Amino acid sequence: MKYTPKKPPSPKTVVSPSVIKRLPRYFRYLRILIREGKSRVSSSELAERMNVTASQIRQDLNCFGGFGQQGYGYNVAYLYAKICELLGVGAGLSAVIIGAGNLGRAIVRSSMFEKRGVDVVGIFDINPLFVGQDVGGVKVYPMRELKDFCEANKVDLAVLTLPKEAAAETAAEILACGVKGFWNFTGQELSLGEAAVVENVHLGDSLMTLCYRICSEEEQHGN
Ligand code: NAI
Repeated sequence: MKYTPKKPPSPKTVVSPSVIKRLPRYFRYLRILIREGKSRVSSSELAERMNVTASQIRQDLNCFGGFGQQGYGYNVAYLYAKICELLGVGAGLSAVIIGAGNLGRAIVRSSMFEKRGVDVVGIFDINPLFVGQDVGGVKVYPMRELKDFCEANKVDLAVLTLPKEAAAETAAEILACGVKGFWNFTGQELSLGEAAVVENVHLGDSLMTLCYRICSEEEQHGN
């Protein structure tokens, strides 16, 4: 069956950040469906799995043209391919990790980059003892080589897992080399304007949200 989006979004359509934030969830759940060998899914089944409403799913996907057919639902492989396209999976993005400490090593050893089609091409650290090491199949280089490396390898994004104090200067240094985005774990706010996109990650915030919910639920239950 051939799928034609009902109404392709105009390039000027602004998709709300909350919809964009949900796209990776579609990506994850569709991967599961593919692993299970499912070729077709209804919006209500997908909604049940994702713990959202079917209308939310239809609304979200309509922002990009729909991708489904009434009475049929969604073709899993097609929808997965479209979500991958939207998320840049398979766009051949490459990344460097800056800071080969505990967090940098844990991140590079996880399978998350591979699963999302991002190629980690190098790790950089100021500590000469780390230089030359192999971490999860990726080599550690000295910081003095960072700029040339980013230029030569057309690096798209940098993962900042170095101390907060060095984050802004390091980010500014590689902006001119074509790095378009920063996955920033350092807790340092980066003011890069329109020059690059920044995605800040604070695991501690997530932990505190969990703690809040535990405590407020205890209160609600009168404990
Ligand atoms: P770590 O001390 O194990 O690693 C930091 C690494 O950065 C070290 O290998 C060090 O040699 C290197 N480094 C220091 N100055 C540098 C520079 N100017 N250029 C390049 N490399 C440099 O620390 P850890 O635990 O790996 O944390 C790394 C960063 O991530 C810290 O900023 C920490 O606050 C942050 N962090 C953030 C989390 C989050 O959820 N956002 C969670 C855990 C850590």
